[in-house]
Amino acid sequence: MSPFHYAHEALVADGVPLADIAAEVGTPCYVYAASTMRERIRAFRQAFRGGPEPLFCYAVKANSNLAVIRLFAQEGAGADTVSGGEIARALAAGVAPSRIVYAGIAKTDEEIRFALQTGILQFNVESTQELLRIAEIAAGMGKTAPVALRINPDVAAGTHDKISTGRKHDKFGIPWDEAGEVFALAQRLEGIEPLGLHLHIGSQITRLEPFEAAYRRAVDLFVALRTAGVPLRRLDLGGGFGVPYKDEPRVEAEAFADLVRRLTRGLDVELVFEPGRSLVAEAGVILSQVIYLKEAGGRRFLVLDSGMNVLIRPAMYGAYHAVLPVREPRPDEELVPMDVVGPICESSDVLGRDRLLPLLRPGDLVAITGAGAYGSVMASHYNSRPSAAEVLVERGRFAVIKPHLPPERQFADERIPDWLGGSGK
Ligand code: LLP
Repeated sequence: MSPFHYAHEALVADGVPLADIAAEVGTPCYVYAASTMRERIRAFRQAFRGGPEPLFCYAVKANSNLAVIRLFAQEGAGADTVSGGEIARALAAGVAPSRIVYAGIAKTDEEIRFALQTGILQFNVESTQELLRIAEIAAGMGKTAPVALRINPDVAAGTHDKISTGRKHDKFGIPWDEAGEVFALAQRLEGIEPLGLHLHIGSQITRLEPFEAAYRRAVDLFVALRTAGVPLRRLDLGGGFGVPYKDEPRVEAEAFADLVRRLTRGLDVELVFEPGRSLVAEAGVILSQVIYLKEAGGRRFLVLDSGMNVLIRPAMYGAYHAVLPVREPRPDEELVPMDVVGPICESSDVLGRDRLLPLLRPGDLVAITGAGAYGSVMASHYNSRPSAAEVLVERGRFAVIKPHLPPERQFADERIPDWLGGSGK
């Protein structure tokens, strides 16, 4: 059940009225329900019970607040990272280095050194150039880098073009037909221990077929490489599990686990998964305030205090996020279609078109749902609006896990050079 539901005519999150949070913390504000996050990671872990336990590395890019990463670490998850910054976050949140995997196509020397120093579980290497760079740096430090090669399986994930990553024209991974060659190189390189195969074909994938196609290819390659003498022991099958924002099907943990068991039967292998969105998307809403109700050009606009600066997914991917009034509409209340828009000076700042809502008034609150993943992490300071706070709710209590950042704090580190009459410092 969603932790966000109406009780006594008001929307509550895990027992806390959202209006109370708005009154205390202000808007816009992200509200995350810990119960949903725990439920989701437990469902994945539970689905694989009875066999060797896979390592679930939470893809921290989906929501990298330290409290969220800590919650998943407490639930037995590791971290999937894509930058030195994300590794630093995972460490700050208490994730053990031995449970951190690190992907990304642009790892810098500094980041590679940091990851080696940290002693992470695995580098997910995306090119020959990167492999050579890691080898050189590791050898220079007298270390050996544990490496999985990220292979591009050339599989269409059947999701939005902008979040498909496993087709051969995408920038990710090592081309399928070069894998053997690059593994042979990895075996010869000092400073590299090639121990795994990695892939990730995209995000918000709602059917099992694309996973099946990609995983089959991965398993075939894994077996072939082992037969050829590469001592592989780990398969990192990425993330990408879709969630219903509107009426899409969910990738159910049980069905997914059955698929993986079927495909990896008899293979003595450690499994790693990198779920992000599926663990957090439905756990979050954005609590926002109505500023105006405006009519123009034959349309009705509900103007909120949060828009594409707080949630860019509708503008960027045409994504759907439901908008719920915090005060429950009366059964006889008239609902009228309106465009829900934000405060930003761009026509792309539309959160939803033709949404059926009661005639709200300035000061009323709404909740934008499905905002726990790729929300706050993709927010910007565009138009110098105060950034949204973040709040975690659990069993009737709540805590601010990131306060609002007022504009003065956003520009606090900017400097005016002396030739413009500034202090230059
Ligand atoms: N592993 C790798 C290597 C990834 O690149 C990603 C996501 C994940 C795991 C986690 O995927 P998930 O389970 O969350 O689907 N900003 C977009 C999504 C971009 C996903 C990027 N990579 C959105 O808002 O839809």
